[in-house]
Amino acid sequence: MSNELPHSFATQVKAPANIAWIKYWGKKGPQIPANASLSMTLRECVTLTQLEATPSSALKLELWFDGERNLNFEKSTLSFLNDRAAEISLLGQFSYKIQTQNSFPHSSGIASSASSMAALSYALGQLLNDHGHKTSNIFIGSMARLGSGSACRSLEGGFVTWGENSKVSGSSDLHATSITSQIHSDFLNAKDTVLVVSTSEKEVSSRHGHGTMNEHPFAKSRYFQAQSNFSEMLEGLKAGDWEKVGSIMEVEALTLHALMLTTKPGYILLEPKSLEIIKLIQIFRRESGLPVFFTIDAGPNIHLIYPESAHSKVEPFIRHELLPFTENGNNAIWDSMGEVGAQ
Ligand code: DP6
Repeated sequence: MSNELPHSFATQVKAPANIAWIKYWGKKGPQIPANASLSMTLRECVTLTQLEATPSSALKLELWFDGERNLNFEKSTLSFLNDRAAEISLLGQFSYKIQTQNSFPHSSGIASSASSMAALSYALGQLLNDHGHKTSNIFIGSMARLGSGSACRSLEGGFVTWGENSKVSGSSDLHATSITSQIHSDFLNAKDTVLVVSTSEKEVSSRHGHGTMNEHPFAKSRYFQAQSNFSEMLEGLKAGDWEKVGSIMEVEALTLHALMLTTKPGYILLEPKSLEIIKLIQIFRRESGLPVFFTIDAGPNIHLIYPESAHSKVEPFIRHELLPFTENGNNAIWDSMGEVGAQ
């Protein structure tokens, strides 16, 4: 590590969101996942972050989100920066101004914590590099993970896993690993149309949800199931088997919400309209024979996942049958696999 004195630094970075096909839900230590997860990086849903750092005797932060000072984000980001400064003292010797904006609506069911923490960690990595510290993607990934677990998966494009497992060489609990080179080309242009049922702030945070797994009566069987779903899905992804991958993806999404329903006290993040959309997807799949599947994050919004080749037939279905169930009857985000991670 270098002893270079702090000097002013500014950068602008962009990091994509990601959607988990195998879910991370539960921790076995500080930001250590209880099971391996697998995600697709998105193309259109990104966070743009500008970071300006000027030397200062004490760590200070001003955080602007969408052009307005945001004291909530400022508080959580300051605590993240203080924690990182406890490990790397150079980071504690700046006054930071961070300006950040998302290409997608806040709380739209796209995990903004993933893209924003990935962007911030990438920017801090650049600051450290500029001061003579050699930072690797693995180091930056570990930093992002400490901010928000799913953020470490946004450091890479394509398909990404996070969590130690026997199926992916180089896999780790500390950072993510790209698996894109092993994935069948039929998945490499996958579409994700997010049907935004509600943009209201979530009633229960993911952080709280992870915590409920410590006492959850089904935790042990969930982790066992996640492990086998992970291995099976990976096989399906390598083989280009949409039916296999899609059916596991849906089990993962419904299991996540079943875990919320069956904790104490149980809670429900799905809305009646989320259920309507799920049922319509199942009917459309049965009737059309097309490989159209859903996944859901910790919220009411439904991600419709399908191959590019099905787009011309799926698009009218979305417009005519699904959009009426979204917020204001017209709230969808048309996204697809993104090739690049934070940059
Ligand atoms: C349901 O990464 O947001 O989206 O590590 O506590 O910040 P923290 O949690 P977070 O959890 C994401 C949960 C999920 C599933 C997933 O993305 O794997």
